[in-house]
Amino acid sequence: MRKTLIVVLVVVGVMLVSTGIVLYAQEARPQVTQGVFATLPDAPPVPEDNPMTPEKILLGQMLYFEPRLSASGVISCHTCHNLSLGGTDRLPSSLGHNFETGGRNAPTVLNAAFFNLQFWDGRATGLEEQAQGPIQAGVEMAMPADLAVERIAGIEGYLPYFQAAFPGEENPITFINIARAIATFERTLITPNDGLDRYLRGETDALSADAQRGMEIVVQLGCVACHQGPMLSLGVLMPFRHGEDLGLANVTGQEADQFMFRVATWRNVSLTAPYFHDGSAATLEDAVRTMGVVQLQRDLTEEEVFYIVAFLESLEGEMPVVNIPALPAD
Ligand code: HEC
Ligand code: HEC
Repeated sequence: MRKTLIVVLVVVGVMLVSTGIVLYAQEARPQVTQGVFATLPDAPPVPEDNPMTPEKILLGQMLYFEPRLSASGVISCHTCHNLSLGGTDRLPSSLGHNFETGGRNAPTVLNAAFFNLQFWDGRATGLEEQAQGPIQAGVEMAMPADLAVERIAGIEGYLPYFQAAFPGEENPITFINIARAIATFERTLITPNDGLDRYLRGETDALSADAQRGMEIVVQLGCVACHQGPMLSLGVLMPFRHGEDLGLANVTGQEADQFMFRVATWRNVSLTAPYFHDGSAATLEDAVRTMGVVQLQRDLTEEEVFYIVAFLESLEGEMPVVNIPALPAD
């Protein structure tokens, strides 16, 4: 009898203590972040018809650094998406073939694998489709698809890498396989464990007091209506009336698509100045102020800008470690 009583008392005691711990933990975690922010997943989604293998990652990495994919032979993906510069070129708008510019800023390739819609205006779906654009674009690498394939197939040393990446295919050196390999490499360019992620996992000192204040402010102001979830972006298009660029309407001609742009990610945003599709905001402070005016019809106070920027600066994750590959000789 007495033993049973003791067991019951111990069980009840344990239950009380654990409820207390749960309540305390909920108390300690600011309510403000609940349901709004999420940690970056460990790995991005992978399409069924392009599984990731180490061989394909390696080939994609080589092609990412391959200037011979461009008409001039000097421009690679890395020229404009430099991994030492946060996956961008830090120019207002990128300089491509013949130093021409398409008028758009280079978005980062870091974590781009978590977006379904690609480009500022979301006109491509998925990294495979995306990667075919810049090789052919006149203002980027200016290389027609068949010439790109011819050029790569003409470099003997590439064949074993394509065979290993696409086993069983009779002619593995194709334009779509070039895009598939590059997309596979891009799926490794993710940046986990920034301040917010560590904070959400319970490391309460991973965000400074200023950054935590900024986090509360972006929730209170309503920035998170668009900037939420693991990418701090819904990943969808939203109106952004700023400058001359018509956004998705350039492609579709539809009035409803005018000024529609994909919500930009906040991950690593402090590494990727200048800002916006036209690179018109030189600093993060400028970008935040403009967002306040354009999206929330509100002149943010200097204090609000200060705290928001402190929060955005905490979103630098761990950079992927990428070796510069040795490319096969001509
Ligand atoms: C001349 C500079 C330049 C080169 C070279 C270049 N890009 Fe880009 N990239 C850009 C610009 C500018 C954009 C945005 C264009 C737009 O949205 O209209 C972009 C967009 C992207 C995006 C979309 C990211 C997102 O968040 O939507 C990805 C991914 C990307 N490029 C990967 C690549 C790959 C892979 C290559 C090589 C095959 C490459 N780029 C070559 C400048 C360049
Ligand atoms: C209605 C949706 C919406 C709201 C609300 C919103 N944004 Fe944005 N934000 C966007 C879109 C869309 C873009 C991409 C703009 C472009 O294409 O140039 C963007 C871009 C940005 C950028 C630039 C990122 C880059 O890499 O160039 C920053 C910084 C930013 N927003 C911060 C904020 C802040 C801070 C707030 C609140 C004060 C806010 N946003 C409110 C939709 C929104």
